[in-house]
Amino acid sequence: MTGSGDLLIRGARVITLAHGAVPRRAAAMRDLGVIEQGDVLVRGGLIAQVGESLDAEAPHEIDAAGRILTPGLVDCHTHACWAGDRLDEFERRLAGEDYLSILRAGGGIMSTVRATRAASTDQLRDLTIARLERMMMFGTTTAEVKTGYGLSTEAECRMVQAILEAGRSEELCSMRLVPTFLGAHAIDPEQPDFMQRTIDETLPAVVRLHPGITCDAYCEQGAWPLEQTRRLFERAAGLGCPLRLHTDQFHSLGATAMAIGMGARSVDHLEAITAGDVPLVARSRTAAVLLPVSGFCTDGRYAPGRALIDAGAIVALATNCNPGTAPSPSLTFAMALACRMMKLAPAEALTACTVNAAHVLGLSDCVGRIVPGLAADLVLWDERDVRALAYEVAGPPAELVLIAGRVAHTGG
Ligand code: NIG
Repeated sequence: MTGSGDLLIRGARVITLAHGAVPRRAAAMRDLGVIEQGDVLVRGGLIAQVGESLDAEAPHEIDAAGRILTPGLVDCHTHACWAGDRLDEFERRLAGEDYLSILRAGGGIMSTVRATRAASTDQLRDLTIARLERMMMFGTTTAEVKTGYGLSTEAECRMVQAILEAGRSEELCSMRLVPTFLGAHAIDPEQPDFMQRTIDETLPAVVRLHPGITCDAYCEQGAWPLEQTRRLFERAAGLGCPLRLHTDQFHSLGATAMAIGMGARSVDHLEAITAGDVPLVARSRTAAVLLPVSGFCTDGRYAPGRALIDAGAIVALATNCNPGTAPSPSLTFAMALACRMMKLAPAEALTACTVNAAHVLGLSDCVGRIVPGLAADLVLWDERDVRALAYEVAGPPAELVLIAGRVAHTGG
């Protein structure tokens, strides 16, 4: 239908998210910039015009018939590149074992590391693409994908390669991908001086492969300690890497304040954030990335999303898609949980996984809003009220997904 990428969508309830400064904070997170009966003209893969009754023509026209049109959703925190499964661990945790004890005993993340190292780069690419296709069914058009299941220089570089290839293989997958280096995801007991080697050898090798890649770490008991995380971040910042951090998932080790002090783009998880750190995040330029699916799948604890927004923090929302704590491809499910468990309003949840998530990835000039000049990454939903996106649990599926004006998925 959209070979040239040029088309006109008529008569949609257009959720533009066009108003106000980027990123959004506080009350501005509720302003979705809705055009009740709007048209969107797409030219050359970009949004060319947005408005009521546009005087425009295009080779292809879609009659939205009052359905809602949103920006493509942006999933700014995923671990979607892995091999193997964690079904045994799933059963063990259902029977009462906890996540960190399984990790300490060499399972959890380390079991996925073993399976991922055993897979070829092509297999990793294909497994990643298959998961991205599922994410797209729920409206995701841009995804961040972390490494972190390689944990050796060779395997981490292969993960980066697999993620980059997944993002380039347009005939297989048109999703926009952002790779992130998470070589500090766990401690490999079998590699002597593992942390030092990650800092001195693995990080620089990955940066050579993909200069400017964001560096992430998992600062947690049984994973990376605070001081080693600081040393990794100092080295990464020196190599020109933006920083992000898994922090306060189970324990508060002081890493949130450290990450903010080092100018990190985001602090992610925050289920165990202290009351004192909430205003610190709120006053900073570091975004809080909420990951409610992992609370749902582990122990029922959630980050204080309401308090963070009320305090003025930049809040984003993501699936955290991974085989251990969040086996879900669905950002609409994350929205449903964020509203019910973290008390976000549906409009705030949508802002958190569009404009604010794009900001976390450094892509706010490209995706996350329906404004002229940005990429025509658009999702048409078979819904009339935008609140329905967070209302339906484990749904709704996207009706039509466009990436750069081209049809990437049809469903419904
Ligand atoms: O963000 N906890 C650290 N990393 C992931 C889980 C990864 C895994 O268990 O495989 C998370 O929850």
